[in-house]
Amino acid sequence: MSAFFHWWVIVITVINLLGCWWLIRFSAKSGPAAAGTEDTTGHVWDGLREYNNPLPRWWLWLFYLTLIFAVVYFILYPGLGNFQGVLGWSQTQQYEQEMARAEETYGPIFAQYANQDLAALAADPEARQMGQNLFLTYCSQCHGSDARGAPGFPNLADGEWQWGGDPESIKASILNGRNGVMPPFGAALGEQGVKEVAAYVVSLSGREADPQLVAAGRERFGLCMACHGADGTGNTALGAPDLTNNIWLYGGSQGVIEKTIREGRHGQMPAHAEFLGEEKVHVLAAYVYSLSQP
Ligand code: HEC
Ligand code: HEC
Repeated sequence: MSAFFHWWVIVITVINLLGCWWLIRFSAKSGPAAAGTEDTTGHVWDGLREYNNPLPRWWLWLFYLTLIFAVVYFILYPGLGNFQGVLGWSQTQQYEQEMARAEETYGPIFAQYANQDLAALAADPEARQMGQNLFLTYCSQCHGSDARGAPGFPNLADGEWQWGGDPESIKASILNGRNGVMPPFGAALGEQGVKEVAAYVVSLSGREADPQLVAAGRERFGLCMACHGADGTGNTALGAPDLTNNIWLYGGSQGVIEKTIREGRHGQMPAHAEFLGEEKVHVLAAYVYSLSQP
């Protein structure tokens, strides 16, 4: 915090505390009005008048206690600008202590798992439980807590893999991330061309589509074969999905497929190697692999 904001925070905080103290003093009366006198606030509701009696003592003291608490707190803990507090407590330090404690407890377990083969680890219920906990913390916001995904975020439990479903490919997906690039073809194909190829793609998964459009689309599918393969079954090296199995990352209706072809898609799986470290990723890969095993 710059010197200016250091003093800015201190001055405003202190003025606030003094202001509260003054307000309590100012508005607290020392005792009830003398008997027989009519000391009212002047407020009248439906003929009822409000007597101007002081707050009960204990209530008044609560206000003073909160002020005393605030002052003691500001002396002990950080809060006043750059002043660190006499206890020397900090969030960072507390976080680091907790992480060190967790590392002591779990470090040896992860180290032991790291030496095991992924397929064997996937069969170990305790490792799976640990993998699931990690998954819920680090992966569920995108892939869902049941790993079944959402449009644009692949289902990891269905045995269908864009980048390969063997344990090592799954681990590589998590460690290094993935970058799916489906180029836009709107300009190259024109609107009619997009409709035709989309109809052909719909037909690839065994569904009804206008036969004329399908025939024209088949002619144009040459543009797509380099990545999706001549038969449309995809290529895990490029992350090009299988278009014949009726499992869709973005959606399989004629309209959504047209949009995919016209505008392209760019799905990004973030790399986790640096963030989580190899040992945790190893346990995660085993968990993800286990989801599609019988
Ligand atoms: C350069 C390689 C490449 C070419 C050429 C290519 N695609 Fe793709 N396609 C991909 C990749 C990679 C993805 C996955 C995109 C992602 O992960 O975000 C994809 C995704 C798709 C999807 C979405 C599938 C789903 O599950 O939602 C469709 C549909 C599709 N492509 C159709 C086509 C068609 C039709 C053509 C030809 C006009 C074509 N692609 C050409 C690489 C390619
Ligand atoms: C910010 C969102 C996000 C987070 C967080 C995320 N993923 Fe992903 N993940 C994606 C997207 C998007 C893809 C698809 C990439 C593509 O289109 O090629 C993907 C793809 C994958 C794949 C490849 C799937 C396949 O079919 O080949 C695996 C495995 C995977 N993620 C596992 C994980 C795990 C485990 C975690 C937690 C450590 C995780 N992901 C966290 C968004 C995310």
